Amino acid sequence: MTAWLITGGAGFIGANFVRLAADSAVDTIVVLDALTYAGNFANISDLIDGRRVLFHKGDICDAELMAQTFATYNFDCVVHFAAESHVDRSILGPQPFLRTNIEGTYVLIEAARRAWQGEAGHRFIHVSTDEVFGDLARDDPSFTEKTPYRPSSPYAASKASADHLVRAWQRTHGLSAIIINSGNNYGPWQFPEKLIPLIILNAMEGRELPVYGDGGQVRDWLHVFDHCRAIRLVIEKGEVGGTYLVGGENPRTNLEVVQRICRAVDAELERAPGTSEKLIRYVADRPGHDRRYALDPSHLRRSLGWCPMEKFEIALPSLVRWYLEHKDWTDAVRNGAYRQYYEIQYGRR
Ligand code: NAD
Ligand code: TYD
Repeated sequence: MTAWLITGGAGFIGANFVRLAADSAVDTIVVLDALTYAGNFANISDLIDGRRVLFHKGDICDAELMAQTFATYNFDCVVHFAAESHVDRSILGPQPFLRTNIEGTYVLIEAARRAWQGEAGHRFIHVSTDEVFGDLARDDPSFTEKTPYRPSSPYAASKASADHLVRAWQRTHGLSAIIINSGNNYGPWQFPEKLIPLIILNAMEGRELPVYGDGGQVRDWLHVFDHCRAIRLVIEKGEVGGTYLVGGENPRTNLEVVQRICRAVDAELERAPGTSEKLIRYVADRPGHDRRYALDPSHLRRSLGWCPMEKFEIALPSLVRWYLEHKDWTDAVRNGAYRQYYEIQYGRR
């Protein structure tokens, strides 16, 4: 019997991963999520059957709950997505980031350590980000597994702290942990506060498209399906104690991404070419904004045979279509709390 715990499985990447896991031979899948503003039960509700795929609303910072959950299920594998994940929110209010990303990860690795007692055969997959490595200048080489940590934002610092804790628990206590750092993900079920879904929805609705600074910042975009495939491979064949960088080798400036979305929205809605681009507004830059991220995925390619399958030029227009077809979902997740955040983040610029 195999049992997996997926934390944060009602969020963007977690929900996509729960779909992949539900389609595998795993006997029991337990999704644990606090359903914060970013988590949405609707992202996975069609998969929850109460027998094989189970949902528990819960907080990873609750040590008693985590101990009970590990005692109830004999987990072989934990995939830890649960986090506060938005840089802009971490600048407005860092406390929830320190709580969930650092303390929550600590509670979870302690629960796993006590339950597994150093026995081999388990897997604790800690899902992290390229942002822990900090800023790259234009000609710097891409991040590798050996790049030192130099986080710039409160979000990145909290994720870096979590990575350090996981590594320390692996080395000191023999926790069977593996760390995965990926670039910016895009794909279905992403909460519309992040660049790509925010721009898609604003363009569809004829609202302004906020571009921070000069829009020349570069992100290494990775389709969430490619990320989830990498995580599955790491669970199956990854080396305990190892780190894997998942890079789509798909660097784009923010302005290019926004312009591509504009063209795709105009085409989908049969508007005159150039209509959406007129909505672009250059707004004040994000404080501490990293200029460039790039990841070298050769370790993952060589050791586990992973390569990205999704092509940005095709996947981005198809994602625009997905958001058009899921209007009920986007209306539901953009509730009063979202509108309040939007006012604070964009109203003052
Ligand atoms: P998300 O914000 O969409 O989802 C996070 C989920 O965690 C939500 O469902 C939320 O309800 C849940 N959660 C938050 N606090 C919790 C708590 N205390 N207890 C239990 N559940 C809690 O985030 P995402 O974009 O899906 O990111 C998932 C993971 O991947 C995060 O760890 C993030 O740092 C990492 N990551 C994200 C990206 C990206 O581009 N989105 C890139 C690299 C790494
Ligand atoms: P985001 O999606 O917030 O991800 P991250 O900060 O984790 O990389 O932002 C991606 C890039 O887009 C980042 O350089 C900031 C920029 N950005 C804008 O220019 N305008 C926006 O409204 C948002 C949300 C982001």
